Amino acid sequence: TLRRGKALQLTLAIVKPDAVAHPLILEALHQKILENNFIVIRSRELVWKRQESERFYAEHAGRFFYQRLVEYMSSGPMQAYILARDDAISRWRELMGPTKVFRARYTSPSSMRALYGLTDTRNTTHGSDSVESAHREIAFFFPEFNVREWMERSEPFFR
Ligand code: TYD
Ligand code: MG
Repeated sequence: TLRRGKALQLTLAIVKPDAVAHPLILEALHQKILENNFIVIRSRELVWKRQESERFYAEHAGRFFYQRLVEYMSSGPMQAYILARDDAISRWRELMGPTKVFRARYTSPSSMRALYGLTDTRNTTHGSDSVESAHREIAFFFPEFNVREWMERSEPFFR
């Protein structure tokens, strides 16, 4: 899973409520994770309270889709994962495809959002967009997980 000379990286992925609610889609997304050589380091199912949803998406407060997004993300169970591989952050976002489902269908027809997304809001998956946000989002979902400690302990085994 780790090409020579490449550093191991962690990202935070979410399968959003629309996809968790559909067993075949959830299964297909798990298949994508494995086919693309991600290692699942942690996984948990959870339901957000509205407040947690607001806090997670605080950077979008005031945007036209914010209320809809917050409501949707607290509407039912979702599944969060810490995924590992080289370039995990950009590889996962590449697999997701563009945010907007119709753009995804046009430009990246085999991406997860193109295949399974319902609307721009109900777009199947989330992925961290930078190392900083990956660390922040991992802490949000897995507060007991220490990224630095895990890296120090595990990275050598991927060499
Ligand atoms: P954003 O961080 O821009 O996208 P991404 O998930 O690709 O990082 O937006 C966060 C979420 O907000 C997005 O996944 C779905 C929702 N959203 C909408 O509902 N409509 C929109 O026009 C945008 C830009 C986002
Ligand atoms: Mg984002």
